[in-house]
Amino acid sequence: MSEPLFESAIPGLRLLARGKVRDVWEIDERRLLFVATDRISAFDRVMQTPIPDKGRILTALTVFWLRQLSDVCPHHLLASDWEALPAAARAVGEALRGRCLVVQRLRMLPVESIVRGYLAGSAWQEYRRSGTVCGIPLPAGLRESERLPEPLWTPSTKAAAGHDENLPPAQARRLLGAHAALVERYSCELYRRAHAHALRCGIIIADTKFEFGVDERGEVVLADEVLTPDSSRFWPADAYQPGRAQESFDKQYLRDWLRGVGFAGDGPGIALPAEVVQRTREKYLLACRLLSGDDSGWSAGAPASPPAAARPAD
Ligand SMILES: Nc1ncnc2c1ncn2[C@@H]1O[C@H](COP(=O)(O)OP(=O)(O)OP(=O)(O)O)[C@@H](O)[C@H]1O
Ligand SMILES: [Mg+2]
Repeated sequence: MSEPLFESAIPGLRLLARGKVRDVWEIDERRLLFVATDRISAFDRVMQTPIPDKGRILTALTVFWLRQLSDVCPHHLLASDWEALPAAARAVGEALRGRCLVVQRLRMLPVESIVRGYLAGSAWQEYRRSGTVCGIPLPAGLRESERLPEPLWTPSTKAAAGHDENLPPAQARRLLGAHAALVERYSCELYRRAHAHALRCGIIIADTKFEFGVDERGEVVLADEVLTPDSSRFWPADAYQPGRAQESFDKQYLRDWLRGVGFAGDGPGIALPAEVVQRTREKYLLACRLLSGDDSGWSAGAPASPPAAARPAD
Protein backbone atom coordinates (compact mmCIF):
# COMPACT_ATOMS: atom_id res chain seq x y z
CA MET A 1 0.00 0.00 0.00
CA SER A 2 1.41 3.42 -0.90
CA GLU A 3 0.97 6.84 0.68
CA PRO A 4 -2.55 8.06 -0.17
CA LEU A 5 -2.93 11.12 -2.37
CA PHE A 6 -5.61 13.53 -1.21
CA GLU A 7 -4.84 16.38 -3.62
CA SER A 8 -2.46 16.66 -6.54
CA ALA A 9 -0.12 19.60 -7.08
CA ILE A 10 1.56 19.95 -10.48
CA PRO A 11 3.78 23.05 -10.76
CA GLY A 12 3.69 24.37 -14.32
CA LEU A 13 0.17 23.16 -15.21
CA ARG A 14 -3.06 25.06 -14.65
CA LEU A 15 -5.66 23.46 -12.38
CA LEU A 16 -9.06 23.68 -14.07
CA ALA A 17 -11.16 21.88 -11.47
CA ARG A 18 -11.09 19.73 -8.42
CA GLY A 19 -14.05 17.36 -8.60
CA LYS A 20 -15.00 15.16 -5.72
CA VAL A 21 -12.43 12.58 -6.82
CA ARG A 22 -10.46 13.87 -9.82
CA ASP A 23 -8.19 16.88 -10.20
CA VAL A 24 -8.41 18.17 -13.77
CA TRP A 25 -5.32 19.93 -15.16
CA GLU A 26 -4.99 21.74 -18.48
CA ILE A 27 -2.35 20.46 -20.89
CA ASP A 28 -3.39 22.64 -23.82
CA GLU A 29 -6.60 23.78 -25.48
CA ARG A 30 -7.33 20.25 -26.73
CA ARG A 31 -6.08 18.00 -23.93
CA LEU A 32 -6.61 17.59 -20.20
CA LEU A 33 -4.70 15.68 -17.55
CA PHE A 34 -7.07 13.75 -15.33
CA VAL A 35 -5.59 12.83 -11.94
CA ALA A 36 -7.64 10.35 -9.91
CA THR A 37 -6.87 11.08 -6.26
CA ASP A 38 -7.68 8.80 -3.32
CA ARG A 39 -10.58 10.97 -2.17
CA ILE A 40 -13.84 9.15 -1.59
CA SER A 41 -17.27 10.75 -1.56
CA ALA A 42 -20.58 9.45 -0.31
CA PHE A 43 -23.91 11.25 -0.25
CA ASP A 44 -22.09 13.86 -2.37
CA ARG A 45 -19.66 14.70 0.44
CA VAL A 46 -15.92 14.13 0.26
CA MET A 47 -14.73 12.20 3.32
CA GLN A 48 -11.75 13.52 5.28
CA THR A 49 -9.82 10.26 5.00
CA PRO A 50 -8.52 9.04 1.63
CA ILE A 51 -8.52 5.37 0.56
CA PRO A 52 -4.93 4.39 -0.41
CA ASP A 53 -4.58 3.39 -4.10
CA LYS A 54 -8.25 4.07 -4.87
CA GLY A 55 -7.31 6.52 -7.63
CA ARG A 56 -5.04 3.91 -9.21
CA ILE A 57 -7.76 1.29 -9.07
CA LEU A 58 -10.28 3.64 -10.74
CA THR A 59 -7.73 4.59 -13.39
CA ALA A 60 -6.82 0.97 -14.17
CA LEU A 61 -10.46 -0.06 -14.45
CA THR A 62 -11.37 2.90 -16.65
CA VAL A 63 -8.50 2.11 -19.02
CA PHE A 64 -9.47 -1.57 -19.04
CA TRP A 65 -13.10 -0.83 -19.94
CA LEU A 66 -12.30 1.83 -22.52
CA ARG A 67 -10.10 -0.68 -24.35
CA GLN A 68 -12.60 -3.50 -23.95
CA LEU A 69 -15.49 -1.38 -25.25
CA SER A 70 -13.71 0.79 -27.79
CA ASP A 71 -15.75 -0.60 -30.67
CA VAL A 72 -19.05 0.58 -29.12
CA CYS A 73 -18.37 4.32 -29.34
CA PRO A 74 -15.57 6.91 -29.47
CA HIS A 75 -13.95 7.68 -26.08
CA HIS A 76 -11.85 10.49 -24.65
CA LEU A 77 -8.72 8.56 -23.61
CA LEU A 78 -5.58 9.61 -25.50
CA ALA A 79 -2.85 8.08 -23.32
CA SER A 80 -2.23 6.55 -19.92
CA ASP A 81 1.40 5.49 -20.10
CA TRP A 82 3.76 7.30 -17.78
CA GLU A 83 6.05 8.25 -20.69
CA ALA A 84 3.14 9.95 -22.48
CA LEU A 85 2.39 12.32 -19.59
CA PRO A 86 3.48 15.96 -19.72
CA ALA A 87 6.97 16.49 -18.26
CA ALA A 88 5.46 18.66 -15.51
CA ALA A 89 3.44 15.67 -14.26
CA ARG A 90 6.35 13.23 -14.47
CA ALA A 91 8.45 15.70 -12.49
CA VAL A 92 6.06 15.26 -9.54
CA GLY A 93 7.12 11.62 -9.40
CA GLU A 94 5.74 8.41 -7.95
CA ALA A 95 2.72 9.97 -6.23
CA LEU A 96 1.11 10.42 -9.65
CA ARG A 97 2.08 7.07 -11.15
CA GLY A 98 -0.90 4.98 -12.27
CA ARG A 99 -3.44 7.74 -11.63
CA CYS A 100 -3.14 9.95 -14.69
CA LEU A 101 -5.02 9.94 -17.96
CA VAL A 102 -4.45 12.28 -20.88
CA VAL A 103 -7.89 12.90 -22.31
CA GLN A 104 -9.50 14.86 -25.09
CA ARG A 105 -10.99 18.09 -23.81
CA LEU A 106 -14.73 17.99 -24.47
CA ARG A 107 -17.83 20.08 -24.00
CA MET A 108 -19.61 17.94 -21.43
CA LEU A 109 -23.29 17.18 -21.95
CA PRO A 110 -25.54 18.23 -19.05
CA VAL A 111 -26.93 14.79 -18.21
CA GLU A 112 -25.61 11.82 -16.25
CA SER A 113 -26.42 8.85 -18.42
CA ILE A 114 -27.42 6.10 -15.99
CA VAL A 115 -28.33 2.58 -17.08
CA ARG A 116 -29.97 0.15 -14.68
CA GLY A 117 -30.30 -3.57 -15.14
CA TYR A 118 -31.59 -4.26 -11.62
CA LEU A 119 -33.93 -2.56 -9.17
CA ALA A 120 -31.77 -0.91 -6.48
CA GLY A 121 -31.11 2.37 -4.72
CA SER A 122 -33.27 5.34 -5.68
CA ALA A 123 -34.91 3.27 -8.46
CA TRP A 124 -36.16 0.73 -5.90
CA GLN A 125 -37.40 3.57 -3.66
CA GLU A 126 -39.36 5.12 -6.55
CA TYR A 127 -40.74 1.76 -7.70
CA ARG A 128 -42.00 1.01 -4.17
CA ARG A 129 -43.78 4.37 -4.07
CA SER A 130 -45.24 4.51 -7.55
CA GLY A 131 -44.49 1.39 -9.59
CA THR A 132 -42.26 3.48 -11.87
CA VAL A 133 -38.55 4.23 -12.33
CA CYS A 134 -37.78 7.73 -13.65
CA GLY A 135 -41.49 7.89 -14.40
CA ILE A 136 -41.32 4.77 -16.59
CA PRO A 137 -44.02 2.25 -15.56
CA LEU A 138 -42.68 -1.23 -14.75
CA PRO A 139 -44.45 -4.57 -14.25
CA ALA A 140 -46.03 -5.04 -10.82
CA GLY A 141 -44.57 -7.39 -8.23
CA LEU A 142 -40.84 -6.81 -8.80
CA ARG A 143 -38.68 -7.35 -5.73
CA GLU A 144 -35.74 -5.33 -4.43
CA SER A 145 -32.58 -6.04 -6.50
CA GLU A 146 -34.61 -7.93 -9.13
CA ARG A 147 -33.29 -8.00 -12.68
CA LEU A 148 -35.35 -5.71 -14.93
CA PRO A 149 -36.95 -7.13 -18.07
CA GLU A 150 -34.67 -4.83 -20.13
CA PRO A 151 -31.87 -2.43 -19.07
CA LEU A 152 -33.44 0.97 -18.46
CA TRP A 153 -31.95 4.35 -19.36
CA THR A 154 -32.64 6.53 -16.31
CA PRO A 155 -30.78 9.82 -16.82
CA SER A 156 -30.25 12.39 -14.10
CA THR A 157 -29.24 16.02 -13.93
CA LYS A 158 -25.55 16.85 -13.58
CA ALA A 159 -25.79 19.16 -10.59
CA ALA A 160 -22.84 21.57 -10.16
CA ALA A 161 -23.35 21.23 -6.42
CA GLY A 162 -25.53 19.02 -4.29
CA HIS A 163 -27.45 15.94 -5.28
CA ASP A 164 -28.17 14.88 -8.83
CA GLU A 165 -31.86 14.38 -9.51
CA ASN A 166 -33.53 11.79 -11.67
CA LEU A 167 -35.01 13.17 -14.87
CA PRO A 168 -37.91 11.77 -16.84
CA PRO A 169 -36.19 10.44 -20.01
CA ALA A 170 -38.29 12.77 -22.20
CA GLN A 171 -36.86 15.77 -20.37
CA ALA A 172 -33.31 14.41 -20.63
CA ARG A 173 -33.82 13.93 -24.39
CA ARG A 174 -34.82 17.59 -24.69
CA LEU A 175 -31.69 18.68 -22.76
CA LEU A 176 -29.48 16.52 -24.99
CA GLY A 177 -31.15 17.72 -28.18
CA ALA A 178 -29.66 16.23 -31.35
CA HIS A 179 -27.30 14.03 -29.26
CA ALA A 180 -30.04 12.29 -27.27
CA ALA A 181 -30.48 9.18 -29.40
CA LEU A 182 -26.76 8.41 -29.55
CA VAL A 183 -26.20 9.00 -25.84
CA GLU A 184 -29.03 6.61 -25.02
CA ARG A 185 -27.97 3.99 -27.56
CA TYR A 186 -24.27 4.10 -26.58
CA SER A 187 -25.12 3.91 -22.87
CA CYS A 188 -27.39 0.89 -23.20
CA GLU A 189 -24.94 -0.95 -25.46
CA LEU A 190 -21.97 -0.19 -23.15
CA TYR A 191 -23.98 -1.50 -20.20
CA ARG A 192 -25.07 -4.68 -22.00
CA ARG A 193 -21.52 -5.50 -23.07
CA ALA A 194 -20.02 -4.71 -19.69
CA HIS A 195 -22.72 -6.64 -17.84
CA ALA A 196 -22.03 -9.76 -19.91
CA HIS A 197 -18.26 -9.50 -19.35
CA ALA A 198 -18.67 -8.89 -15.61
CA LEU A 199 -21.00 -11.88 -15.17
CA ARG A 200 -18.29 -14.13 -16.58
CA CYS A 201 -16.01 -12.67 -13.88
CA GLY A 202 -18.54 -13.32 -11.09
CA ILE A 203 -19.81 -9.75 -10.79
CA ILE A 204 -23.25 -8.33 -11.48
CA ILE A 205 -23.19 -4.72 -12.64
CA ALA A 206 -26.53 -3.62 -11.23
CA ASP A 207 -26.32 -0.10 -12.62
CA THR A 208 -23.80 2.43 -13.80
CA LYS A 209 -23.38 6.06 -14.77
CA PHE A 210 -21.73 7.31 -17.94
CA GLU A 211 -20.85 10.85 -18.93
CA PHE A 212 -20.54 12.03 -22.51
CA GLY A 213 -19.12 15.11 -24.15
CA VAL A 214 -18.99 16.56 -27.64
CA ASP A 215 -15.71 17.10 -29.51
CA GLU A 216 -14.86 19.96 -31.86
CA ARG A 217 -16.36 18.06 -34.81
CA GLY A 218 -19.66 17.65 -32.98
CA GLU A 219 -19.16 13.91 -32.29
CA VAL A 220 -20.56 12.37 -29.10
CA VAL A 221 -17.62 10.95 -27.09
CA LEU A 222 -17.63 8.78 -23.94
CA ALA A 223 -15.82 10.68 -21.18
CA ASP A 224 -15.00 10.62 -17.48
CA GLU A 225 -14.43 7.40 -15.52
CA VAL A 226 -16.06 4.24 -16.86
CA LEU A 227 -17.66 1.33 -15.00
CA THR A 228 -15.78 1.77 -11.72
CA PRO A 229 -16.98 1.03 -8.18
CA ASP A 230 -17.50 4.80 -7.78
CA SER A 231 -19.82 5.04 -10.77
CA SER A 232 -21.53 1.63 -10.55
CA ARG A 233 -23.14 -0.91 -8.26
CA PHE A 234 -21.13 -4.14 -8.34
CA TRP A 235 -22.62 -7.22 -6.67
CA PRO A 236 -20.97 -10.63 -6.15
CA ALA A 237 -22.94 -12.88 -8.51
CA ASP A 238 -22.68 -16.00 -6.34
CA ALA A 239 -24.43 -14.28 -3.41
CA TYR A 240 -27.15 -12.66 -5.53
CA GLN A 241 -30.63 -13.09 -4.19
CA PRO A 242 -33.51 -10.81 -5.16
CA GLY A 243 -35.84 -9.69 -2.40
CA ARG A 244 -33.19 -7.93 -0.31
CA ALA A 245 -30.29 -5.51 -0.55
CA GLN A 246 -27.11 -7.14 -1.94
CA GLU A 247 -23.55 -7.36 -0.73
CA SER A 248 -21.38 -5.17 -2.88
CA PHE A 249 -17.89 -4.37 -4.16
CA ASP A 250 -18.58 -0.67 -4.23
CA LYS A 251 -19.35 2.32 -2.07
CA GLN A 252 -22.39 0.71 -0.49
CA TYR A 253 -20.34 -0.61 2.43
CA LEU A 254 -19.20 2.95 3.22
CA ARG A 255 -22.72 4.34 2.80
CA ASP A 256 -24.09 1.73 5.20
CA TRP A 257 -21.34 2.45 7.74
CA LEU A 258 -22.02 6.20 7.46
CA ARG A 259 -25.74 5.70 8.00
CA GLY A 260 -24.92 3.57 11.03
CA VAL A 261 -23.04 6.46 12.62
CA GLY A 262 -25.87 8.87 11.75
CA PHE A 263 -24.29 10.58 8.71
CA ALA A 264 -26.47 11.03 5.63
CA GLY A 265 -24.73 13.88 3.81
CA ASP A 266 -25.86 16.62 6.17
CA GLY A 267 -22.70 18.61 6.74
CA PRO A 268 -19.11 18.10 5.63
CA GLY A 269 -17.55 14.66 5.16
CA ILE A 270 -16.17 12.97 8.25
CA ALA A 271 -12.99 11.06 9.14
CA LEU A 272 -13.08 7.29 8.57
CA PRO A 273 -11.67 4.70 10.97
CA ALA A 274 -8.83 2.47 9.76
CA GLU A 275 -11.07 -0.59 9.45
CA VAL A 276 -13.52 1.20 7.14
CA VAL A 277 -10.64 2.47 5.00
CA GLN A 278 -9.13 -1.01 4.82
CA ARG A 279 -12.38 -2.80 3.94
CA THR A 280 -13.34 -0.20 1.35
CA ARG A 281 -9.91 -0.54 -0.23
CA GLU A 282 -10.22 -4.33 -0.32
CA LYS A 283 -13.62 -4.15 -2.00
CA TYR A 284 -12.38 -1.78 -4.71
CA LEU A 285 -9.30 -3.91 -5.22
CA LEU A 286 -11.27 -7.13 -5.53
CA ALA A 287 -13.65 -5.58 -8.07
CA CYS A 288 -10.66 -4.43 -10.13
CA ARG A 289 -8.95 -7.83 -9.93
CA LEU A 290 -12.03 -9.81 -10.86
CA LEU A 291 -13.07 -7.56 -13.72
CA SER A 292 -9.74 -6.74 -15.34
CA GLY A 293 -7.67 -9.77 -14.38
CA ASP A 294 -5.18 -7.43 -12.72
CA ASP A 295 -3.19 -9.34 -10.16
CA SER A 296 -0.41 -6.85 -9.63
CA GLY A 297 -1.04 -6.80 -5.91
CA TRP A 298 -0.93 -3.05 -5.43
CA SER A 299 0.64 -3.80 -2.07
CA ALA A 300 4.19 -3.05 -3.07
CA GLY A 301 3.23 0.47 -4.05
CA ALA A 302 2.31 1.74 -7.46
CA PRO A 303 2.13 -0.68 -10.36
CA ALA A 304 4.57 0.01 -13.17
CA SER A 305 1.74 0.80 -15.54
CA PRO A 306 -2.04 0.46 -15.53
CA PRO A 307 -2.58 -3.29 -15.66
CA ALA A 308 -5.56 -3.05 -17.96
CA ALA A 309 -3.70 -4.22 -21.01
CA ALA A 310 -2.73 -7.46 -19.27
CA ARG A 311 -5.92 -9.25 -20.17
CA PRO A 312 -6.89 -9.92 -23.76
CA ALA A 313 -10.32 -8.82 -24.91
CA ASP A 314 -12.85 -11.64 -24.83
N1 LIG B 1 -13.10 14.63 -21.52
C1 LIG B 1 -13.55 15.53 -20.64
N2 LIG B 1 -13.50 16.86 -20.91
C2 LIG B 1 -13.93 17.77 -20.00
N3 LIG B 1 -14.44 17.47 -18.77
C3 LIG B 1 -14.53 16.16 -18.45
C4 LIG B 1 -14.11 15.12 -19.37
N4 LIG B 1 -14.36 13.92 -18.78
C5 LIG B 1 -14.91 14.20 -17.58
N5 LIG B 1 -15.03 15.53 -17.35
C6 LIG B 1 -15.49 16.20 -16.12
O1 LIG B 1 -14.39 16.20 -15.20
C7 LIG B 1 -14.84 16.07 -13.85
C8 LIG B 1 -14.21 14.85 -13.19
O2 LIG B 1 -14.05 15.00 -11.83
P1 LIG B 1 -14.87 14.18 -10.72
O3 LIG B 1 -15.36 12.90 -11.26
O4 LIG B 1 -14.04 14.17 -9.50
O5 LIG B 1 -16.08 15.19 -10.54
P2 LIG B 1 -17.45 15.12 -9.80
O6 LIG B 1 -18.41 14.95 -10.90
O7 LIG B 1 -17.50 16.27 -8.88
O8 LIG B 1 -17.53 13.90 -8.89
P3 LIG B 1 -18.58 12.73 -8.96
O9 LIG B 1 -18.19 11.92 -10.17
O10 LIG B 1 -18.33 12.02 -7.68
O11 LIG B 1 -19.95 13.33 -9.13
C9 LIG B 1 -16.36 15.95 -13.93
O12 LIG B 1 -16.94 17.21 -13.75
C10 LIG B 1 -16.60 15.48 -15.38
O13 LIG B 1 -17.87 15.86 -15.87
MG1 LIG C 1 -17.34 12.21 -11.55
